[in-house]
Amino acid sequence: MTHQSASRPRRRGPRAALASAAVVALAAGTSLLYATSASAAESTLGAAAEQSGRYFGAAVAANKLSDSTYVNILNREFNSVTAENEMKLDATEPQQGQFNFSNGDRIVNHAISRGMAVRGHTLAWHSQQPGWMRQMEGAPLRQAMLNHVTQVASYYRGKIHSWDVVNEAFADGGSGARRDSNLQRTGNDWIEAAFRAARAADPGAKLCYNDYNIDNWSWAKTQAAYNLVRDFKQRGVPIDCVGLQSHFNSGSPYPSNYRTTLSSFAALGVDVQITELDIEGSGSSQANTYRNVVQDCLAVSRCTGITTWGIRDCDSWRSGGTPLLFECNGNKKQAYHSTLSALNAGGTPPPTTAPPPTTAPPPTTAPPPTTAPPPTTAPPPSQPPGDGNCSAAVISLDQWSGGFVANVRVTAGSASTSSWTVTMTLPSGAAVTNAWNSQASGSTGTVRFSNAPWNGQIGAGQSTQFGFQGTGTGSGMTPTCSAG
Ligand code: XIL
Repeated sequence: MTHQSASRPRRRGPRAALASAAVVALAAGTSLLYATSASAAESTLGAAAEQSGRYFGAAVAANKLSDSTYVNILNREFNSVTAENEMKLDATEPQQGQFNFSNGDRIVNHAISRGMAVRGHTLAWHSQQPGWMRQMEGAPLRQAMLNHVTQVASYYRGKIHSWDVVNEAFADGGSGARRDSNLQRTGNDWIEAAFRAARAADPGAKLCYNDYNIDNWSWAKTQAAYNLVRDFKQRGVPIDCVGLQSHFNSGSPYPSNYRTTLSSFAALGVDVQITELDIEGSGSSQANTYRNVVQDCLAVSRCTGITTWGIRDCDSWRSGGTPLLFECNGNKKQAYHSTLSALNAGGTPPPTTAPPPTTAPPPTTAPPPTTAPPPTTAPPPSQPPGDGNCSAAVISLDQWSGGFVANVRVTAGSASTSSWTVTMTLPSGAAVTNAWNSQASGSTGTVRFSNAPWNGQIGAGQSTQFGFQGTGTGSGMTPTCSAG
């Protein structure tokens, strides 16, 4: 084995700074700010989405980072990125055990140096496998897949907001069956094995199941994905989110029950993210569909962000369908304007750390509710104000000569929190270089870590995690927590 060590600690960039104003609002216990419509229209997609605590992202190709028109739009409009191809299996492990993160790193570094979040795409998939993996089956393939998940998720640990752990595992059509693939043939439990490996490798990332054609609530494939998530939640398999790719065209049109699908997944206790949005068409019809998608996401508190699959029409994998928000010359399309104004209209904040439902889950054989209308109003804020109680503990400390990475678990007491601050005194000589899933103030001595926009709310007895990297040694830190 000649693979590069993925356990060597690397410089971790800042996790996304999504909404500094929102952080201030939450820290001050004024999260009601979120519940109202934006008072002033923002002029970019990312800033408009931030008003309700969401991100607006794009799939990015490393080889376009030298195109100034492309990069100008990316930097101006978006606050999250997904590598379009550069973190896939063939790109990251071209030879078994030999990992290549160079193009993935170009995208990650571009993003984190500008405070953008990064979605990881994807750790396990039947497609875009390297040649060596395509030929494998059975136990050796299972082992190779788990090693891939572990190595890649470990390498990027602390930099990824959400990972698409498994992509496209269900078959199209009416069967609701798993898609046949070499991975599926290793055993039906390959998906949960991948999720457990990803959680162990990067405990701070949200772990998503991602697929296409799971947008229409009445389609069998949607129900199959729903049943997978429900089963995982019931059995305690780690899963935090569902990614709806949402590639819409005449064969797979935007469904009128899309909001029902989003809210139904969310009711299982996971976030939903629209991960690869593109809508073929043009003019007002395309603009209307983009508006509908944004409005649906904003109406579901756990729909936490939207990513378009590319930036300009000519960047699209389906460029013939002109499915994106910008023309090739960089001009904004009508769909851009409808998207921006829908984002500016606001929505309810995503309570990302809300506990899973405590009531009995729906019956396993429930058919899709074909007649149920989508919810017309967003649910009210689910958490009462906190009682000031929380606790914090360092749950991992990855120490090397000259530096360390710490992960900290924050647990609410007998009431929920709306914001929290963890205070830690660093050993002398140690300094925080960056933090993720929290905002650090100070870098040496006594440092305060405040919640990020998406994890201030913790249900009673529930937990969230944040992490930080430092220079020096991190041993002996004792966190204290205060909640709002
Ligand atoms: C696509 C890329 O956009 C193309 O550049 C590549 O040739 C093929 O893959 N579902 C996914 C994405 O999860 O990874 C796919 O991306 C589009 C469909």
